Parts: sequence; structure tokens; C-alpha cells
Amino acid sequence: HDNGLGSTPQMGYNTWNDFECHGVSAENIRKVADKMVTLGLPALGYEYLIIDDCWAKKRGEDGVLVPDPDAFPQGMKPVADYVHESGLKFGIYTDRGTWTCAGRPGTWGYEVTDAQTFASWDVDYVKTDSCNGPDSLDDRPSSAAIAQYKLFRDALNATGRPIFLALSGWHNWYSPFGKGLANSWRIGYDVRNWRSAWNYAIRVNAFLHDYAGPGGWNDPDMLVGSSDTAVRMTPEQSRTQFSLWSVMTAPLLLGSMLSMTDHDLETYTNREVIAVDQDPLGIQGQIVWENCPLRNRTNIRQKQYYDEIPACQQVWAKPIQDGFAVVLLNLENNSARVNFSISDVCWSSTELQPCDFFEEAAVRDLWSKEDLGRMRFINVTLAADGGSRMFKVVPKAPRKQEVK
Ligand code: DGJ
Repeated sequence: HDNGLGSTPQMGYNTWNDFECHGVSAENIRKVADKMVTLGLPALGYEYLIIDDCWAKKRGEDGVLVPDPDAFPQGMKPVADYVHESGLKFGIYTDRGTWTCAGRPGTWGYEVTDAQTFASWDVDYVKTDSCNGPDSLDDRPSSAAIAQYKLFRDALNATGRPIFLALSGWHNWYSPFGKGLANSWRIGYDVRNWRSAWNYAIRVNAFLHDYAGPGGWNDPDMLVGSSDTAVRMTPEQSRTQFSLWSVMTAPLLLGSMLSMTDHDLETYTNREVIAVDQDPLGIQGQIVWENCPLRNRTNIRQKQYYDEIPACQQVWAKPIQDGFAVVLLNLENNSARVNFSISDVCWSSTELQPCDFFEEAAVRDLWSKEDLGRMRFINVTLAADGGSRMFKVVPKAPRKQEVK
């Protein structure tokens, strides 16, 4: 989407996993903003604070959305001001249908009004969901849905304010259309634990790398975290999610803030991993080796469909400016050894091809932050159930050298 935004994937925080519909309020938004500043997150690139569903109460007689007066007694503008004064950008949520997923008023028929309202509140980012509109549950491209997105996209652009547009929904059909419509688009249903991370994000995004690039990104949903209240991953899985999301060039939207654990904080503030995600080439990584059973695009239906997590291993790689980043992933419920031959992976521009033009590559462990020296193989033991390791690999020969 050509609004000048999203040259790299967006980073920030979204309220949904922490609050759902309980406690989305001006008071809590201020607390979140304060915490983000205290933790030094804006300086690392986490720039958007996004209010998800459940802020809107009704549509006023003038057609303008009215925030819940109990939660936002002064309205939304002072909240946006507070977020801006904290050095952050302000994001808000709506839905292309009549009602949001949680039953609050949606934007259908009010695209221009809502775009103008959001601009008047100095909103910098809009997430627009896909419940209760035409073809909401359809898993194929729908011209009615695309027409709605275009209307809202154009209405936002017409405000003259640069507003990042993030599509949400249960579909996985956005990707081929995404770049024309928005700055990011969800590729599946909600990720709330390790199993849904596999089902709705990892196995789906493996097919979608060609659609992403500067200006528009596949969005495999928020980072779950490993806190007790915000649930649902082990510390190891939470770190794996961050590594994989970075190699997948995904939005880095934190889903836990007031309850963030020290381990998750250490994970989310690793500058070298963030740099992989934010690499200026903006190429989405892909699977370069796996022993998992064959999957194909027809079995990546969303919402109802749950795949057993297969007992296998994958290696994901992403070209970055000075080499590539690699994540070795264990999906099995036992620990597993992987001996990955680095010289099997060779990137030429955006294409992956087999090559053997470099002898040894310099390898750095991005979590232990150790240079491991030059090598041909990365030979590691991976922990069970989503254990992973992440490395940066700098080949000896230039990456663009021709393969003979
Ligand atoms: C469904 C989306 O996928 C979630 O991220 C969240 O925005 C909820 N809707 C809100 O109702």
C-alpha cells in the first residue's frame, strides 16, 4: 500500500491479548504507555500503541463513533495526546462490517466518517477487522470485501494524515491482494498458544513469502509471551515465536505489557534479532530444509482447522543485508538433533538456490550473542515442543555470486 508507511514491518503493542474486552480504558492505556517508556521500548523501534476491540460504545446521532464513556471519560483525543507525548504513535481498531467481532459498532457504511474521526483524533494506525461484513467467513477472495477495504483505504488516504492500515480477519486469502490494500494483513486466526502459532501462522506463512515486501507485510498475529496472565506459551516457545517472526519478517506486536516476564523482556529487547526483522531488504524468510510431511496450500484453511503439530524439524532462513539469518526449529515432543549444512543454502537476490560457492561461513548465535567462528555445518540439539536456535550467517563469498 503506497502511503509511504511500512517500509519495514510495524512494531509496537496491541491490547487484545492482555485485556480483550476487560479494562480497555484511558487509565490502562496510560499505564501501558508509561511501561513502554520505562522499559525503553520506543528506542528499540516499538513505536505503535494500538487499542484493539471494545473501546467503542455506540454510534452517535451525527454518525460519529462514541468511545465508552466509563472507560474513556474525556473521549479519545486526550488518550492519543498522552500516547504521543510519551514518544509513541497511536493506533485504534475498527471492523469492516456492521459490528466488530465483540459486538461494538463497525465501519460498514461509515467509511468516510470513521476515517475522518480517526484523523481528527490524530490516529496513526488503524487495524480493521473482518467480522459481520459481507463474506466475513469466506475463505476465498471476495469482491465485496475487497471493495470495502478499498473504500476505507481511500477514505484514510483522503484525510491527508499518514495512517498505517492493518487488515485483520480469519482469511488467508489476503496475501495476493494485500499490497494493493494495506500495509499489513493477517494470514490466519488468532495466535494464543504454541499450537495456534503452528496452525494459523507458521505453517501458513511458509507459503506466503512472495507476497510480502516494503509497504505491505504478512501478519501472523501478535507475540503471545509467557506470562501467567497473558497465557499460554512456555518461555522457550515465546522466544522461538520471536525468532521465527523475525525470520518471517513479521510485524512485532507485543501482546503482553503490564504482565510481561523478565524472560520475555529479554527476548523482545534483543537488538540483533530485531535487526533481522527490520532488515532494510525486507525479504520474508522461508523454509530451506525440513523433514516434515508435505503440506500444501489447500490444507491451510483457518478457524476450524487444526493440524496436529508434526514430529519433525525445519530450518528457516532469511536473506539480510550482510548474509542471512537462520532459525532451526523442533516441532517434535522430544529433543532432536539437527545437522544443518550451511552451504546447501545460497541466496541470490531474493531467490533461494542450492550452491556450494562458499567454503565456510561466519556464524553467530543471536541468543547467546557469541561468535562461533567459521563453519560448514550448524550441528545442534533442539529442545522439545518448539525449541529453537537462531544464528546469523555471513558467507565468505558474496551472496550474489553466480552459481556455476
Ligand atoms: C479477531 C482478531 O483476530 C483479534 O486480533 C481481535 O482483534 C479480535 N477480533 C477483537 O474482537
